[in-house]
Amino acid sequence: MKINLSNIKKAKNFLNKSECVAIPTETVYGLAGNAYSDQACMKIFRLKKRPKNNPLIVHYYDLKKVKKDCILNNNFLKLYKKLSPGPITFILNLKKNSKISKIATNKKNTLAVRFPKHPVTRILLKELKFPIAAPSANISSRVSAVTSNDVKDDFGKRIKYILEGGRSNIGIESTIIDLRKDPKILRLGGLDINVIKKILGKKILININPAKVSAPGQFKTHYSPGIPIRLNVKKIKKGEAYLMVRRKKVNKINYYFLSKKGNLKEAAKNLYSTLRKIRKDKYKSIAVSKIPNVGLGKTINDRLLRASKF
Ligand code: TXA
Ligand code: MG
Repeated sequence: MKINLSNIKKAKNFLNKSECVAIPTETVYGLAGNAYSDQACMKIFRLKKRPKNNPLIVHYYDLKKVKKDCILNNNFLKLYKKLSPGPITFILNLKKNSKISKIATNKKNTLAVRFPKHPVTRILLKELKFPIAAPSANISSRVSAVTSNDVKDDFGKRIKYILEGGRSNIGIESTIIDLRKDPKILRLGGLDINVIKKILGKKILININPAKVSAPGQFKTHYSPGIPIRLNVKKIKKGEAYLMVRRKKVNKINYYFLSKKGNLKEAAKNLYSTLRKIRKDKYKSIAVSKIPNVGLGKTINDRLLRASKF
């Protein structure tokens, strides 16, 4: 994709005025605002119809910038070195004198921190004098957006500007890891947790369904395409769309495939766009064939399970 610097400048001007704009990232599009500005963060919550107690992820350019707001630790530094920029979000303790808006954090003393890899957003982050708070650019509890058109479908003219970045090439949200004590996964995502295990050289806890929700991405009803979903289906009912990982050589218009050869990374990338497509094709419900529960298949199953609680 060719990078258009004048578009980046437009986004920058809006952000400098505490306005919200949509930005591309390699995982999904984000609804961005100045993380140091209460006004900007308030606008994000309002636009997304997001519950106030669900804190925002804050996006930084690099280590030098995050040091001003967060307390860094060894596990973070190890993972940062190998995986950033990339599809991983770290939960860290905030510094007492951090400038992050209390609206963004819901007055907690922790911060979700991410270093996105998308080249357009990297240029933007490098030039701005503040980090960017950006939840996924979708209406709260619905499927995330992986193209600028998805963002338009959800928000129409209510967003001032959408910074074009082509299609998100991971297509599913970042993996969230809490690094304040023993490393603990809070959300499965676009980065396979085996990669994290290898780098840290130890087992990591997984806490994606806690009794007490600390990351509302863990709420059961989430990531919904707005129509019912049935899982592990062998036989579909009349009128259902049938979703499966690997392409079958059959010519049925109600069959949707996530990957030509059954590659789970490709399947994760295509999940949200396919769910949006099925809805646009006017199906009233979706039957999903069993999806292998390994690697990114785990993330796909996590999202579909939550979407099925709709
Ligand atoms: O890939 C991504 O992570 C995308 C792109 C735009 O960066 N962002 C994203 O944001 O998915 P969002 O807001 O849709 O999901 C962020 C999740 C939420 O479930 C939120 O509860 C959790 O991160 N979160 C934010 N701050 C947290 C904190 N301090 N402690 C625990 N969880 C936190
Ligand atoms: Mg989200």
